[in-house]
Amino acid sequence: MGEAPHGVVLRPMTEHDVPLIHRWLQAPHLAEWWGDAGFTLAETQAGYSPAVMAADQVTPYIAMRGGRAIGFAQSYLAMGSGDGWWDFVTDPGVRGIDQFLAHGEDLGQGLGTQMVEALVELLFRDPAVTLIQTDPDPGNHRAIRCYEKAGFRAVEIVTTPAGPALYMVRERKAHPL
Ligand SMILES: CC(C)(COP(=O)(O)OP(=O)(O)OC[C@H]1O[C@@H](n2cnc3c(N)ncnc32)[C@H](O)[C@@H]1OP(=O)(O)O)[C@@H](O)C(=O)NCCC(=O)NCCS
Repeated sequence: MGEAPHGVVLRPMTEHDVPLIHRWLQAPHLAEWWGDAGFTLAETQAGYSPAVMAADQVTPYIAMRGGRAIGFAQSYLAMGSGDGWWDFVTDPGVRGIDQFLAHGEDLGQGLGTQMVEALVELLFRDPAVTLIQTDPDPGNHRAIRCYEKAGFRAVEIVTTPAGPALYMVRERKAHPL
């Protein structure tokens, strides 16, 4: 699957990974920007089961580095998301992405950028994919900078069902830093 030059590899998430995700979600560094920290295992199962996600056109991945699981990522078909999400997207080639690093000590070393680059590379292998979008909280400057380093450009602040977000896009040709 997707591999960045410095060794972050994405593998498909399986049902067996749900307890791992549940443990990861309790990490303090995720409470501020991810929001599922209070989930019970059953709630994590309901929200993160790959089969449930597939029904919603969402594909989950586990990021690996040197045999160690370091993070979670997901991609989704933006058009037709429903429930007020991405109503303005009319291109079926648009994919969206979200991700987090699992271990607080891994933050700020470029691994998130490698993870995003690996996912971008993986998604653009599909010729039907035209554009990749992401929607960090406007106050999440670390995530915004990470996406910029991975070739995304900020478009505008949009209102999503989860609140305001900075809509960012990555074309096949990366936006220069
Ligand atoms: C967002 C996330 C995946 C980024 O991964 P990461 O490995 O920490 O990011 P990187 O080290 O690749 O890049 C971070 C950049 O932001 C910069 N940065 C960090 N804190 C910052 C801040 N408060 N303001 C501005 N820039 C900041 C870093 O200096 C670095 O830029 P540089 O390389 O130019 O110096 C990771 O931090 C994470 O999992 N955060 C918690 C969950 C989350 O926010 N997910 C994203 C939801 S949209």
